[in-house]
Amino acid sequence: MCGIIGYVGPGKASQILTDGLKMLEYRGYDSVGIAVLNHGKLEVRKDKGMVEAVSSALAFTTMDGNVGIGHTRWATHGVVCRENSHPHSDCTKNIVLAHNGVIENFSKLKAELSTSHKFASDTDSEVIAHLVEEYSKTQPLQKAFMRAIGRLEGSYAIALMSAADSEERLFLARRNSPLVIGVGKGEMLCASDIPAMLRYTKTFVTLEEGDMAVLSKHGYKVYSADGSEVARKQITVDWGLEMAQKGGYPHFMLKEINDQKHFINESLASDVTEARKLIDRYDRIDIIAAGTSYHAGLLLAYLLQGMGKGAQAFVASDYPFIAKPDGKTLIIGISQSGETADVLQAFRYAQKSKKIAIVNTLSSSITRLSDCVVSLNAGPEVGVAATKTFTSTLVIIFKIIYGKEKLEGLSHLVETMLGQENEIKRLAQVLAPKENAFFLGRGKNFPIALEASHKFKEITYIHSEAYPGGELKHGALSLVCDGFPVIVLAPKDEASQKLFGNIKEVKARGGVIFSVTDDPEVKRESAFHIDIPEGTDPALYPLALIIPLHLLAYHVSVLRGINPDRPRNLAKTVTVE
Ligand code: BG6
Repeated sequence: MCGIIGYVGPGKASQILTDGLKMLEYRGYDSVGIAVLNHGKLEVRKDKGMVEAVSSALAFTTMDGNVGIGHTRWATHGVVCRENSHPHSDCTKNIVLAHNGVIENFSKLKAELSTSHKFASDTDSEVIAHLVEEYSKTQPLQKAFMRAIGRLEGSYAIALMSAADSEERLFLARRNSPLVIGVGKGEMLCASDIPAMLRYTKTFVTLEEGDMAVLSKHGYKVYSADGSEVARKQITVDWGLEMAQKGGYPHFMLKEINDQKHFINESLASDVTEARKLIDRYDRIDIIAAGTSYHAGLLLAYLLQGMGKGAQAFVASDYPFIAKPDGKTLIIGISQSGETADVLQAFRYAQKSKKIAIVNTLSSSITRLSDCVVSLNAGPEVGVAATKTFTSTLVIIFKIIYGKEKLEGLSHLVETMLGQENEIKRLAQVLAPKENAFFLGRGKNFPIALEASHKFKEITYIHSEAYPGGELKHGALSLVCDGFPVIVLAPKDEASQKLFGNIKEVKARGGVIFSVTDDPEVKRESAFHIDIPEGTDPALYPLALIIPLHLLAYHVSVLRGINPDRPRNLAKTVTVE
């Protein structure tokens, strides 16, 4: 999964590409490169490493030229090294491209080409450059490009250009991997997502699956998979650039956690009418999601079960191997990016079923596979680990289940929970040196325990596990010993007495209890507690619990010298399966 950016216009391409790559780094950051065309001369600079380091070491912005492409990589085929970083070239070094996705038939294509082409990398992507080179021996560049794209199987977002092209155009193609055109004034851009282009325009064109496009200084043309020219709708976003930048916070993640004060109300305004009507018409509801979104899906399943629905949450990547959806099944997909390949694949698998997408990015692929789209309205989320998009998903779920009236006190609750940052920082000091932790929750709070533990794993690298409170004694309790930290999600709800017993079991074995609670008895048993306000509506407990636990994970991460925005091995949106 990678980030792509392209530019053509009067501006200095190398500067624009470098700035854009910094906004795309959350999509993959193990290597980076740019290619710039300057009056027929093509130059490529690339290496392994993050944008800041590589762009200064290789002096990206000293390159002249008004047309270029850039790429940040999250390795799928080929180790992280200079040769495998993008952009990739053909034999003549006249054609360069950046690619995001997986070319599933690249071995076959590479074998076909390797008799007359010399490959410089182990990647699947490079094969595309040589295909275009081969076809442009007998056809004009655009036709050669389209013919090469027609040979590809798998997923791709591609930006390609050629030194031999006197019109200095960018050639784009996308299938199952995001690529958006930015329509500027006298300049054109493309990128994997919108924030990378916000500095230059707020008008974008969403390409459909299989589309190709040609960008030039004069504008753009879009072609469908069969090569015929098509019109694609332009969208205008009201996101300001500052919304996609840190706004004075040390990390995007902290900004986004604090953004919740504002975006909770934006999410509350999202229209869920159609979604609720659909839900009311179905008894069987399959919820599909990945990562943090899956934890929200689990909670939704519990709440729908409480309404008597046959609802179940599935990990998206397993869904095609487990479920048999039919016309009587309603599918609800939860995906903040709307580009997670596992979720898209599951949606394509459930072709007989009506589908709802709960999504943050309205120009994303999932929206085109859905019958009903519910917007998170959470604004761009750049931090790799989801935070505000998770709480916005909870708000949407609450609005669908309970209706808006029940949610009036939401923003006050968010402010109150965020207001305990000093206590949370003190707790972070205690937890930062630990190497293990358990998170306990019962009933509807268990999905929140899963999410809190997931966040710990994602950004602190502490090995943590979430357990249903009543389950610990059936095995994992064996790990609890003196000083072992157990974070208990303990609101005063119908399960709190039972959970209190679990707390005693842990303490009897030397475990140390940290809690998020409004229960005085639990506070007395806790070495440290974060307070849920007295009188909180139990329906809102999941939100009250996760906000401080995301903040706790953030502070532990920083104390452990980790950049919470760019945890190792991960990417914001994994568009490969
Ligand atoms: C992972 C991200 O790649 O994808 C997680 O690191 C995220 O933060 C998961 O929860 C699912 O993403 P999405 O966009 O489908 O909600």
